Amino acid sequence: MSGAAPAGAVRLWPAGAGDGSPARAWRFRSRGADLLRTAEELTGRRLAVVRDVTVGMPGDDGELVAQQGDFWFHTDATFLPEPPHWMIIAVQEAHAGGELELLPSEFLDTEALSAEATYLTPDGAVHTPVWEPLPGPPGTGRLRYREDRMLAGGDAAAVDRAQQAVSDAAAHALTVGALAPGECLLVDNWTVLHRRRTFTGRRVIRRLWLDETG
Ligand SMILES: [Fe+2]
Repeated sequence: MSGAAPAGAVRLWPAGAGDGSPARAWRFRSRGADLLRTAEELTGRRLAVVRDVTVGMPGDDGELVAQQGDFWFHTDATFLPEPPHWMIIAVQEAHAGGELELLPSEFLDTEALSAEATYLTPDGAVHTPVWEPLPGPPGTGRLRYREDRMLAGGDAAAVDRAQQAVSDAAAHALTVGALAPGECLLVDNWTVLHRRRTFTGRRVIRRLWLDETG
């Protein structure tokens, strides 16, 4: 893996490469490129596609239809036993709105987010801290966060505090803005929450979920 960024890719977070910390969010133009390969080049990791779907509008052939309202900060695939590490949104059609924002774990009160939440999965349910520290340098961990899918486990007050921590941090979110057709966002789905603002008109995106392999 070369690690060289495809021409034109903009590193979004952490914004500066000065401290040597690996990037966890980029914006780039697909130009018909192989998105898996581009993601491997940007992350410097070997990746595998877990799911690759087109999210369209009512009346389209696809199964998945975009929610038009404000899609509050979340991680993708909270229902999977292990959510995908990386996520790509590739905008295919966009009329107006749909601005994207990012909320990296550095902005979050991870202590408040250690609250346990329950998510339904195809096999039953998973009970897990919203922020689960993982082995590695300080700050290594995994978020699993989607307010409309989380069920309070034993401690509803703790889940409320976790949700409040996300609301409190929202003011510091990074504004990505609206992606034009042909533009893509690649995000570390374990450590960066994303939000999509309300949109109008037609909006069609291709969404890929990627896991690291080896
Ligand atoms: Fe999402």
